[in-house]
Amino acid sequence: MEMAERRLFGLFGDPVGHSLSPHLQNEAFRLLGINGVYLSFTVKPEELGAAVQAVRCLKMGGVNITIPHKERVVPHLDRLAGDALLTGSVNTVVPEGGQLVGYSTDGEGFLLSLRHQGQMEPAGKKVVLLGVGGATRALSFRLAQEGVAALYLVGRSPEKIAGLQTALRERIGFPAAGLSFADPELEAVAAEADLVINATPLGMFPATNDQPSFPLAACRRGCLVADLVYHPLETAFLRQARKHGLPTLEGLGMLVYQGILACRLWTGHTPPFAPLYRFLNGLLAPDRTSMG
Ligand SMILES: NC(=O)c1ccc[n+]([C@@H]2O[C@H](COP(=O)([O-])OP(=O)(O)OC[C@H]3O[C@@H](n4cnc5c(N)ncnc54)[C@H](OP(=O)(O)O)[C@@H]3O)[C@@H](O)[C@H]2O)c1
Repeated sequence: MEMAERRLFGLFGDPVGHSLSPHLQNEAFRLLGINGVYLSFTVKPEELGAAVQAVRCLKMGGVNITIPHKERVVPHLDRLAGDALLTGSVNTVVPEGGQLVGYSTDGEGFLLSLRHQGQMEPAGKKVVLLGVGGATRALSFRLAQEGVAALYLVGRSPEKIAGLQTALRERIGFPAAGLSFADPELEAVAAEADLVINATPLGMFPATNDQPSFPLAACRRGCLVADLVYHPLETAFLRQARKHGLPTLEGLGMLVYQGILACRLWTGHTPPFAPLYRFLNGLLAPDRTSMG
């Protein structure tokens, strides 16, 4: 590979030290024969404008944006496209014709994982989302647009729930329900649900015994329980779901698919899912406990 022509890609966030994205994207470039290198950069909020300016000056091939910058990066970009236009949240920045365009691949990434690994088509389904942060924002807009029958947003902040309900209603006319983790109605919601998704960080390494409070025992047979946490692969929440005989979907598939979509936006090429999934799965094997 010609070093002089190698293109730089990256991740801007804080913290980024344990991110799997550099492993994922560098392996994707290797599989595709793309002359690129992907690095992670710790970027503080006050440095974000300068970091985005660097994408322009250094003619970088593209960047991912993660916590805490997914929304605050928007004013530094030229325009938004796709899901980012609706949600106002960006995880992928793409240079297009001299402009920097913000996309979000999280919702679509989850959907691909749900279809291919969870074997579930969301149209007509009743979906419970636990946690009301950035991931739930991305997933709720995408799932609503896919025609789910109902969305239940379960959170600990009534203001955040109300904010997302308003955004869904005003932007796409979707009426989502809101509940707290202590709501007595949760049992009835669980009994009706087709899909329950943990979109909180509870259970993530190193606090692997944590899990969101949700009455999985009340779920009906066949209700799919998904976790966006991917380290460890089998979270305490998914373990409990399996004990109740419920099918499960772990978060690594979504991580791989959202990365594949970002790589395609930057390069026009689609890296293959299976070898990337195997590669990351190997990095997350139980003896590699420091990987976040
Ligand atoms: N697999 C993937 O590709 C993928 C993609 C995106 C995200 N994720 C994972 O999904 C998780 C959420 O990400 P995010 O970007 O949405 O994070 P976020 O914006 O920080 O939102 C986290 C949400 O979880 C809630 N929460 C945190 N601790 C809680 C607790 N102890 N009890 C109840 N609720 C709690 C927060 O509540 P408050 O708002 O009240 O603080 C917030 O609503 C993370 O673990 C992330 O790694 C995975």
